[in-house]
Amino acid sequence: MSTPIIEMKNIEKHFGSVIALAGVSLAVHPGECHCLLGDNGAGKSTFIKTLSGVHQPTSGVVEFEGKPVVFKDARAAIDSGIATVYQDLAMIPLMSVARNFWMGREPRKGVGPLKFYDAKKANDITMSEMARMGINLREPEQAVGTLSGGERQTVAIARAVYFGAKVLVLDEPTSALGVRQTANVLNTIDKVRNKGIGVVFITHNVRHAMAVGDRFTVLNRGQTLGTAVRGEVSTEELQDLMAGGQDMVKLEQSLGGTV
Ligand SMILES: Nc1ncnc2c1ncn2[C@@H]1O[C@H](COP(=O)(O)OP(=O)(O)O)[C@@H](O)[C@H]1O
Ligand SMILES: [Mg+2]
Repeated sequence: MSTPIIEMKNIEKHFGSVIALAGVSLAVHPGECHCLLGDNGAGKSTFIKTLSGVHQPTSGVVEFEGKPVVFKDARAAIDSGIATVYQDLAMIPLMSVARNFWMGREPRKGVGPLKFYDAKKANDITMSEMARMGINLREPEQAVGTLSGGERQTVAIARAVYFGAKVLVLDEPTSALGVRQTANVLNTIDKVRNKGIGVVFITHNVRHAMAVGDRFTVLNRGQTLGTAVRGEVSTEELQDLMAGGQDMVKLEQSLGGTV
């Protein structure tokens, strides 16, 4: 296999006395969809925040394109091409799709101090990038709030791809969607992977993972239960691993522990 774009080695993350990650490893190769599975509280979000520079690991090593790296903040990770689409999409519903697509990176025209937002360029690129992801917008001025949840995910994904993501991290992109919209987002993931981008797809839905995943890492209470390769693990086996986690949570709850 090729050199991973990013490799997380034995990552631990403690918040005071809470051990959110107790030694998690995961590599992302170009063009693969690596699914990160685990029940609520397993540490998935903490792990990808560590991958994307939001958190510093308590211990462990992050390697980017084969070399150890420390992302001192989210900006540093973004500059290296780690793009993260969070559950609560950072979008402004009343603003247009195009404005959301370009937020903070608007194309300008003009010279010297007289620079203006280049609306035509922004609109044209937004329309064509969305079309490449399979969504034909009525018009680029359409407010993001009028899009479906799946379409909004696609705006965030198309934006990350356009701005040069090497790794695209998606935190539960399908968890709030219906069947058809889920299919659209899974389709989009497939398109992104085919561009050679590495995708980290976080989900607690085994069927969604199985639909697009090349490899599957299961987290349980901050620990890796292992990484499986497509074709070498069945939906039922993954489901069992996940369900094991659920039983643990129920047991904890009935014993009065925190989840
Ligand atoms: N900033 C934080 N401070 C303290 N504890 C946290 C923090 N972030 C996450 N945790 C804890 O870490 C564990 C893993 O949480 P999280 O990564 O959000 O899980 P998941 O995304 O798999 O649902 C949980 O017990 C959670 O309460
Ligand atoms: Mg989470």
